[in-house]
Amino acid sequence: MRIGILTGGGDCPGLNAVIRAVVRKSVQNGDEVVGFRDGWRGVLDADTVPMDLAAVRGILPRGGTVLGTSRTNPYALEGGADRVLATLERLGIDALIPIGGEDTLGVATKLAEAGVRVVGVPKTIDNDLDATDYTFGFDTALGVATEAIDRLHTTGDSHHRALVVEVMGRHAGWIALHAGMAGGATVVLIPEQPFDVDAVVAHCQHRFDSGFSPIVVVSEGAKPKDGDLVLATGERDAFGHVRLGGIGTALASLVEERTGREARAVVLGHIQRGGTPSPFDRVLATRFGLAAVEAVHDGESGVMVALHGTDIVRVPLARATAQLKLVPVERYAEVEVFFG
Ligand code: F6P
Repeated sequence: MRIGILTGGGDCPGLNAVIRAVVRKSVQNGDEVVGFRDGWRGVLDADTVPMDLAAVRGILPRGGTVLGTSRTNPYALEGGADRVLATLERLGIDALIPIGGEDTLGVATKLAEAGVRVVGVPKTIDNDLDATDYTFGFDTALGVATEAIDRLHTTGDSHHRALVVEVMGRHAGWIALHAGMAGGATVVLIPEQPFDVDAVVAHCQHRFDSGFSPIVVVSEGAKPKDGDLVLATGERDAFGHVRLGGIGTALASLVEERTGREARAVVLGHIQRGGTPSPFDRVLATRFGLAAVEAVHDGESGVMVALHGTDIVRVPLARATAQLKLVPVERYAEVEVFFG
């Protein structure tokens, strides 16, 4: 059997662990693995790399992806889907294992409907993919964000200034929610819950009044209720997502102006995506890789491997990509207890 593999969308710690597991298991099964470079771009251009044992040696703890990635969307290109089908046919690919988030797996869903044998693997540091309890990469990003908050507490308290930490999360606030709770944030602002500027300022003031410095954790996609702090560059990627950035800086100026105390913004950005995966992510990614190969051998298609509790299960790709997994109100209510 010839199995194709690719990594698409934003990179994420643990991608190499999946690739390694797929290759190791496939070699054991007597199968051949073909790597496509840079996500769907590699399939469109038939840009491949043979994935044998030598290709995956030593990559388990490495961040990023040895296959490279891109946000190329074949369905946004004239004749793109046909080019993908033609490449798979020409190279004799029996099954495809795309590793990605909502966008990459959205393409996989359509290809499965077009008759390609596809088993998806969920990845994103944002943890916003539906039908799985966790995606790998999230735990690592959370560790980075939490360590940053811990460090900012000590410098903030020393200088008696507020610190606003902007974390990733375009539509879902999982990183902000968990890092804010783990790091003891004064306020956590997420895209799912438009925030009240007066309340944010009041929480910061309360924290200053108690003799400590406030830490505001804000998702890049968080918006105020009145809508006048929304910041975007206007640029869009191939899947139509607006490039965000700037909410942290805007909030810091506002807190400084309204409390009369100094405030600074820290944007964690891609630091959350780079570097070595946590042990949790290495194990989850490895188990996903093994389960994807098993699903292929069982003749499955149009499914995604997922974590339910501690079990790896198979769910329909269409269900996983129909909607994003957002932070429910009751989870936000838990962290709200600690505001101020
Ligand atoms: O989708 C994952 C993610 O990390 C988002 O949280 C973020 O908005 C986006 O990627 C930024 O990616 P890039 O800078 O690579 O376009």
